[in-house]
Amino acid sequence: MINEYKDVSLRALNTLGIEVRCERLVEFSDAGDLPKIFMRPEIAGGRWAVLGGGSNILFTGDFCGTLLRPVGHAIDIVADDGTEATVRAEAGAVWDDFVAWTVERGLWGAENLSHIPGTVGAAPVQNIGAYGVEAKDIIHSVEMYDAVTGKMVTLPGGHCDFGYRDSVFKRLLKGRVVITAVFFTLGRAARPQLDYGDLRAYVEELGGATLANIRTAVVAIRRSKLPEPSETGNAGSFFKNPTVSAATVEGLLAAYPDMPVYPAADDGFRKLAAGWLIDRCGWKGRSLGRAGVHARQALVLVNLGGATGGEILTLAGQIAADVRAKFGVELEPEVNVW
Ligand code: EPU
Repeated sequence: MINEYKDVSLRALNTLGIEVRCERLVEFSDAGDLPKIFMRPEIAGGRWAVLGGGSNILFTGDFCGTLLRPVGHAIDIVADDGTEATVRAEAGAVWDDFVAWTVERGLWGAENLSHIPGTVGAAPVQNIGAYGVEAKDIIHSVEMYDAVTGKMVTLPGGHCDFGYRDSVFKRLLKGRVVITAVFFTLGRAARPQLDYGDLRAYVEELGGATLANIRTAVVAIRRSKLPEPSETGNAGSFFKNPTVSAATVEGLLAAYPDMPVYPAADDGFRKLAAGWLIDRCGWKGRSLGRAGVHARQALVLVNLGGATGGEILTLAGQIAADVRAKFGVELEPEVNVW
């Protein structure tokens, strides 16, 4: 099924609630629709991009071109040896519906990623993560349409070049492929991961580490810190947690002994908490026109009502400048700026 719309408002299709328009929006339900769509020169020859849940995008102007939106949302077990199951979820499935589905079926691996906005197809792009787990930990492979060769390809997770909020889909394959489904490997044996922050305490209060309790705890923690996009426009963490050298961290710790520091993937480097740095610059709960910083998590920028993408970007620029001036650390956006 293909549905096409012209000159569409994107306000309801991005969680920051920015009012911009798009020249053409094409919804498709099936991977088999894509060759037909890409046969059209006005689509293949023009600017095109894929829109998932719009939960990690800042629109700074109208989109002149075609936005492709997968809407197929089937979730199926495609292999099961009693210990591990392989699950195929179509790109248009809502991520949290997928997580709920796995929890209901006693499949372990996705529960810490409960309540993250967005779609399954977007999850591998930025390798979504929370509470000590990243999508890459459970992604078996990614199914996609290659717009250059016109063929379907299934790329194993090990070849997706996953990093912290990063993947091959943000780099080499950007603007070339349309993700149509993701395969996940999930386990039947309990493997709770409760080491991040106050998750263990929450889960114990609920009566122990069952899948349902972990999901309930993660949802409660997220709700207590992060604004609901349906109530306040936001795109989750606006910036990435910056990676800096161990020597830089030592210098900063001498001045700020309570600064949170996390391990980084590469030796000799550490990750800092961008939310803490922004908070220490006094930005938490402050605003600049119609763009604001969330009162309970300084890493989240919010649309206070009618903000433009430019206003959000100006606020982000001022925050980054203050963090640079105070700590000498560069902040990089986590959201995609379009
Ligand atoms: N902090 C402050 N002030 C703030 C915010 C945070 O002092 O306003 C401190 C906290 O007290 C804590 C540290 O900074 O010591 C880290 O905060 P938190 O545990 O809330 O996590 P985060 O590093 O700010 C990351 C992810 C979130 C994810 C959480 C939990 C990134 C960019 N963000 O946030 O992901 O939910 O960890 O795992 O990595 C997202 O990507 O959109 C997102 C929400």
